Amino acid sequence: MSSPVLHDLHPPVADLRREVLTGLEANPKWLTPMLFYDARGSHLFDAITALPEYYPTRTEIGILRDCRDELTELLGPGAVLVEPGGGNGIKARLLLDVLDAMAYVPIDIARQHLFNAAAGLAADYPEIEVHAVCADFSRPLQLPDLPRGGRRVAFFPGSSIGNFEPAAAVELLSRLAGLVGPGGALLVGADLVKDSARLEAAYDDVQGVTAAFNLNVLARLNRELDTDFDLARFAHHARYDREAQRVEMHLVSQVAQRVSLDDREIVFDAGESIHTESAYKYTPAGFRELATKAGFEPWREWLDPEELFAVFLFSC
Ligand code: AVI
Repeated sequence: MSSPVLHDLHPPVADLRREVLTGLEANPKWLTPMLFYDARGSHLFDAITALPEYYPTRTEIGILRDCRDELTELLGPGAVLVEPGGGNGIKARLLLDVLDAMAYVPIDIARQHLFNAAAGLAADYPEIEVHAVCADFSRPLQLPDLPRGGRRVAFFPGSSIGNFEPAAAVELLSRLAGLVGPGGALLVGADLVKDSARLEAAYDDVQGVTAAFNLNVLARLNRELDTDFDLARFAHHARYDREAQRVEMHLVSQVAQRVSLDDREIVFDAGESIHTESAYKYTPAGFRELATKAGFEPWREWLDPEELFAVFLFSC
């Protein structure tokens, strides 16, 4: 059985308490979407991806299935596939099944999850070198020495790019351009602008899974920071801001209330919200423009027949 090579770049541990306090003392209040992904939140997110209303995951998988032979031809043999946030995902496996890749390089801050996932992948793809890099890809980073294969390809699926503010998205893509270097490529999935009802349903499903995902942030703060949020006094809210081209998720205080965090009191008016996530939606032209600002050049793009979602290939 082949084993992955593990590179631990020792990413600094975030100061959760300070960040949460900064967001809750701001006006309007906000919390980072990173808070969603504790064990329960990751499990709820997996459930979201299977919901009838949440079309992005299955639509992107369908596009990748349909385009991967063409992609294999375009990228050529020996690709080194670098996936920020990657692990053992079904999407990377879809590509590794057909790409004549030399190496797979997942980068993630969650050390144990990353290393376990990399071990599974190395076992399933013994002909591919797996280099797992524990690092925070949202900050500048230097990759360790990697195999000198063919083209370096950054793979960023799932419309995760949509959870970054546009300026931060350009910064992140610029970093990816630096990682893959000249001759490299970027394969990225982005959710497309569409009617509000469809978008809002995707972030506010009838079964309430997304509501539970959003509210779980407060349960996490109660557990990890010893706050005293009463989850029954907050409601999940999702709305599409057409002008800003983003779905916003909020937790709306149902009553006037106070929540304590250490020696501070966070005061909520009735109806006041905490902004927990933005999910930006793009037109194909808008996304090309974003990636171009980061130093990439449009190469090829694939959309599903309903034009809900797009997978873009850029060259560097
Ligand atoms: C992870 N990310 C791409 C998801 C999205 O669609 O923005 C997170 C999510 N939030 C609510 N539902 C899914």
